[in-house]
Amino acid sequence: MCGIIGYVGKRPAQNILLDGLKRLEYRGYDSAGIAVLEHGKLTVEKNVGRILELEAKLGSTQWASTIGMAHTRWATHGKPSTANAHPHVDHTGKLALIHNGIIENYRELRKELEKKGIAFQSQTDTEVLVNLISDLYTGDLRTAVQEALKLVRGTYGIVVLHEDHPGMLITARNGSPIVLGLGDGENFVASDVTAMVAHTKNVVYLEDGEIAELHAGTHEIRTIGNETVTREASEVAWSIKQAERQGYEHFMLKEIFEEPEAMRNAMRGRVIPSEGLAKLGGLNLTEDEMRDVRRIVIIACGTAYYAGTVGEYFLEHYARIPTEVEFASEFRYNNPVLDEHTLVFAVSQSGETADTLAALREAQRKGVRVLGIINVVGSTIARESNGGVYIHSGPEIGVASTKAFIGQITAFLLIAFQFGRLRTMSQQEGIELANELIVLPEKIERALAYANRVKEIAKHYASYKNFFYLGRGANYPIALEGALKLKEISYLHSEAYPTAEMKHGPIAMIDENFPTVVIVPNDLYYEKNISNIEEIRARSGKILAVTTEGHTILEEYADDVLYVPETLHPLYPFLTIVPLHLLAYEVAVDLQRDVDKPRNLAKSVTVE
Ligand code: M6R
Repeated sequence: MCGIIGYVGKRPAQNILLDGLKRLEYRGYDSAGIAVLEHGKLTVEKNVGRILELEAKLGSTQWASTIGMAHTRWATHGKPSTANAHPHVDHTGKLALIHNGIIENYRELRKELEKKGIAFQSQTDTEVLVNLISDLYTGDLRTAVQEALKLVRGTYGIVVLHEDHPGMLITARNGSPIVLGLGDGENFVASDVTAMVAHTKNVVYLEDGEIAELHAGTHEIRTIGNETVTREASEVAWSIKQAERQGYEHFMLKEIFEEPEAMRNAMRGRVIPSEGLAKLGGLNLTEDEMRDVRRIVIIACGTAYYAGTVGEYFLEHYARIPTEVEFASEFRYNNPVLDEHTLVFAVSQSGETADTLAALREAQRKGVRVLGIINVVGSTIARESNGGVYIHSGPEIGVASTKAFIGQITAFLLIAFQFGRLRTMSQQEGIELANELIVLPEKIERALAYANRVKEIAKHYASYKNFFYLGRGANYPIALEGALKLKEISYLHSEAYPTAEMKHGPIAMIDENFPTVVIVPNDLYYEKNISNIEEIRARSGKILAVTTEGHTILEEYADDVLYVPETLHPLYPFLTIVPLHLLAYEVAVDLQRDVDKPRNLAKSVTVE
């Protein structure tokens, strides 16, 4: 989705802004633009396409301006074009605005402004907002922005720059993240800390309904209603190095190789093997409250939804708590049935997904406690949850979520473990589980050691157009996640089913051009899965099997076999996902796709 970076300080703004934009590229965008005050005059450059093309357009231009803002746009209102790209400038040519989000009542507002003789150059809601601010402006920029925002409905994270106020940026948020970065004699604003963490780790998160005035050495936060807000800065816990490729060809590959570390980070300090216990500090529930939970509902989207589906399996298996997983986008409108014994988990890597946030608010409206399973510290869902678990995966830059998935399923396992030990799980079972968890990251490393084999196989599979992914039990969501990953980065059609469902319809599709990836570890479904593989083989279907080391017998049934180490039956998802993430990656590389920035996708989906 769109990205925002703004700077006011003592250094020339141009390169700081362009570098910041590059750090936001992973969010997905189709056009980019920049605005500065050069010799006091508002100067704007924008372009359709990549930031490199914007830089090419700027050529050798090096503005001296020490204030400015820049934006990457992911089209919502109006197709990608230079006119629709941000910054948008008002009809006087003195005021510029960048905006993430959607102004829902922009049509009415536009008509009102047109009646006043204001002509519009673009199809965007943002150009309406900049002209609305301009229409209300009488010399006090902050007040004009506050008054304009009282008239709009919708979501926004904005930054405003005006020729009359050469040392000041105004920023505000409602539903789209805005973070202030506090430096030494310079200040930043961004939609995501990644854009500014190279310059400062000292950040302040704006809340919905707040506006901030930024000068080189000061910042001031108020509400849209003009009440003063005091908020301490917090420190970003990761370094800019972690948000770099570090020699890997793509962020996605680096992040797959960070999966063992993602599991360690999510477990650190939370497992006590000697007592066979897991303890999560942030759940904000007493032991009695935990025992009182009779139902769990998990809300999430995309990969986080599939992690939730693995979580459902863990919670039912280890804690014996009935669990349902719902697409957040459905839950928010379904008038969900919730009572005082229901606990809701909202799962989100970014913590900014609009559907998940709306679902969380809907659950809270019904009086239910919502806990977050979140990666991005300080994100909106993290702040609005009633407690929860940070997975500490570090920055995930590839649009396709990988290491965060491991972090999310680790969090669910620990929650199931903690709840389970308060209910039916024995200490002996707890010790066995804890001991296996401690060695599981090394087993993920071992699964990654087969990366070259995956690369070889992928060359061949890249020539197919359609794929089935099959798995049973907790490996069914792994099949779903594997299929999603393949389609989103390679644009090949792939769909997933519980293995035994094939014979109820999908098997009609099978022929020699429709390969099936079957997850068949040495668990309680092993024999049954082999029978299902035979059914596919009997119809000339090609098989790629993912199984447990030592089960070379699979080579007799499958065209290709990938191996993972042995583990406890319920824990196989931590291992079986590894070859599937690698397979999706290698197929996409083979097809020369833009792996880290796949077409049409955004890292964080902050609109409905
Ligand atoms: O940031 P979130 O975890 O809330 O994002 C949810 C989905 O948008 C996300 O997982 C999406 O499906 C990814 N592109 C999957 O790789």
